[in-house]
Amino acid sequence: MKLAKNLISILFLLWTVKSQAPPQRAQSVAKHRIQVQALPYIPPPSISPDEKGNQIPDFSNVGYREGAVPLPVVPVKIILEPSTDHTVDDRQRIQDAIDKVGQLPMSPLLLRDGKTKIQVRGAVLLKAGVYRVNGTLILNQSGVVLRGEGNHGPDGPDGVEGVGTVIVATGKYVHDFIYINGLLNSKQGTPESILSNRNYRDGGGESGGSIKDLRPKNYYRRKIKRAIPLADEYIPSGSLRIPVKDITNFQPGTEIIVERLAKQAWMDMIGMGRFAAQPGTFPTTLSWETIQFNFRYFRKVTRVEKMLSDQSSNPPQTSNPLPPPSPPSPPPPPLTSPNLGDTSKAPLRRRRVPNLLPLVESNSEPRIQQTRHRRRLSRRGLFDPDGFFDTSSLPARESTPYSGDDNWSDNIPDGDNDFADDDDEEDMPRGDRPSEPDDPAWVPGYLHLNIPTVMDMDPTYGPGEVFPFEYKIAIPSDIGVENIALYSVFDRTVTNSESNPLEDENHAWFAVVVDHCENCWVADVRTRYFVSGINLAPASKHVTVQDCEITEPISTARDGGRRYMYLIKGQMGLVKRCFASDARHDFITGAKTRGPNVFVDSTGIRANNDAGPHNRWSMGTLYDNIHSRNLNVRNRGWIGAGQGWCGVNHVIYRCSTDVKSRFQSPPGGSNWVIGFEGALGDQMFEFEGRDATMIDIDSSMPRSLYWAQLVKRLGGTEAIAVDVEGWVGVAGKNKYPPKGSVTTTS
Ligand SMILES: *[C@@H]1O[C@H](CO)[C@@H](O)[C@H](O)[C@H]1NC(C)=O
Ligand SMILES: *[C@@H]1O[C@H](CO)[C@@H](O)[C@H](O)[C@H]1NC(C)=O
Ligand SMILES: *[C@@H]1O[C@H](CO)[C@@H](O)[C@H](O)[C@H]1NC(C)=O
Repeated sequence: MKLAKNLISILFLLWTVKSQAPPQRAQSVAKHRIQVQALPYIPPPSISPDEKGNQIPDFSNVGYREGAVPLPVVPVKIILEPSTDHTVDDRQRIQDAIDKVGQLPMSPLLLRDGKTKIQVRGAVLLKAGVYRVNGTLILNQSGVVLRGEGNHGPDGPDGVEGVGTVIVATGKYVHDFIYINGLLNSKQGTPESILSNRNYRDGGGESGGSIKDLRPKNYYRRKIKRAIPLADEYIPSGSLRIPVKDITNFQPGTEIIVERLAKQAWMDMIGMGRFAAQPGTFPTTLSWETIQFNFRYFRKVTRVEKMLSDQSSNPPQTSNPLPPPSPPSPPPPPLTSPNLGDTSKAPLRRRRVPNLLPLVESNSEPRIQQTRHRRRLSRRGLFDPDGFFDTSSLPARESTPYSGDDNWSDNIPDGDNDFADDDDEEDMPRGDRPSEPDDPAWVPGYLHLNIPTVMDMDPTYGPGEVFPFEYKIAIPSDIGVENIALYSVFDRTVTNSESNPLEDENHAWFAVVVDHCENCWVADVRTRYFVSGINLAPASKHVTVQDCEITEPISTARDGGRRYMYLIKGQMGLVKRCFASDARHDFITGAKTRGPNVFVDSTGIRANNDAGPHNRWSMGTLYDNIHSRNLNVRNRGWIGAGQGWCGVNHVIYRCSTDVKSRFQSPPGGSNWVIGFEGALGDQMFEFEGRDATMIDIDSSMPRSLYWAQLVKRLGGTEAIAVDVEGWVGVAGKNKYPPKGSVTTTS
């Protein structure tokens, strides 16, 4: 303890000596503009469904234990002090502590709401000071928390003294820094393991940063041989009750996967069956393969309802009778390619796409700011992790650069492997397969779901089916990383003089990757100089990211796959009260991301590209009180070798941007924009599509759709809003996280 304090004073001395100017915040932008989140309670606006009956879903079940449960304050079991010797690598020491706590028995913990009881093992507390980690830290056991004593870092917020806890990622090679992932073994985090497995990290932005080659392909299995088809009728998005052909295998509480199978007719209807490639490259077309677009949604059955014998079909789920589904849109215009057959089969390669938003053209102000800011950053020794943390004994740039560049492609059909199961016939478009005959023993009925559908299902374009499942490898829960600053070293000699002086990429990429787990959190984590930020990967669900700050990424800003600050590819993810600077994409979902997912009350500044659903049809994202430089929900055409339609059932609620943003709805579905503040239009490229449903805000509408839906789901009274505010709102945040080791128990 004393040692740590001494170290801190020494470090302080060091900065004072090194820095010419007094340390100052890189940003003075207000990050948490919202002082009260759930209050006063104003019910969600009632927005009528679209012409097919699709309605804005209830997004409120996202996040840690469905969003209304305070994050647990897990008792400390192991306390580590920083090393006094800055040449010592702390990875093994910290990993051993994590693994040791992972061996402890579970004990019950009552959360601050006074009702939720969970099982936890304990926290590893890193006392204030600087730790150095060469490699990756892995948390794979339920109920284990990695906690620091403050995230202010060496250049802490105004008026705060001390470094808090800083972990420096010292590895000068491509890697992700902290994994929460129940499929990984901590041995996989050693630098040797990372360096000898070029596929260790097989993807940045788009392919999710998951460790595919080192984990089993099929991690869950169906509990019944044949998936049960949904009834042969149109089932709109936003439904909490779905008609199925057989209810026999379902009870309240059954964990199910609802799957929507893609048909070629759907691809053609949305214009993604074949579409034009980037003009001026080579004559070709792009296409989406149906086999990559079967969507699996994790849900739970809350009630099973038998169909009355005279109910031949699904009664309408809304109070208004549903009109029949509208006819399909006309087929896309014929394409000019002379050579369809070949090119549609050729693997799509990653192609450099010019930066969508060249800062000069659209708005010169941010660029000037950024350049100044970068200059400041390079001038100040304080901001040089190499200098400051004295890594002079480390080798310079790794001589073998990461060679997996091809695998950064946008085109890896990620998610499919993750969600494959034993019975899949991978080589066959499943939605177009002739359906097996119905079983006469089936008992038709309805399943009530805990979380609404976020995509319509229907026999013509995308039939649905459902099955109970179980994990082959237990999915861990209640893992957290909290109250810590993470810094990455980088090589400051790798520069691009033009606009962006610091472009080294041989260092840590994502600061935190969360995958194969549920009900986990990343809270009060502040990162600097990583390539990207926090990644909720495809096999994560119900993860909360709150009060985090991801600033000053070091990488090129001109290429894709980098500077994804808050990336959600999993399900039921929640990002709230977060901040980012200098992103490419500050708040973003990946290809085929299946919602609901929510970004709320968060700000990004100086992004080099846009926020929003990014790529290849994601579903059910709420952007609520988000400010970003640019936010789009649109057809993205050939961008990124065929990002195409970014998807459906997205809601933009009271968001604002600095530059023109474009909101569109795809054929056959709707996106909603409510109370947008900013200019509308295409920032650079325009692709065909009708406008999204634009709704003006009026004074009867709540400040935030997410918070209004959450309070409504729990009962919709002012008293409940007060509880919610105290558990998970700003007031709840002020009681969390623990500021020190106050919760230590033996
Ligand atoms: C990290 O580990 C690798 C592999 O052992 C080694 O080559 C490298 O020098 C280490 N870097 C640091 C900063 O310790
Ligand atoms: C989790 O990590 C521990 C410690 O490395 C290891 O013993 C265990 O096998 C890991 N679990 C899985 C599923 O790999
Ligand atoms: C890219 O991924 C493919 C498929 O996983 C693999 O076969 C190939 O070796 C990888 N390429 C590199 C350069 O890592």
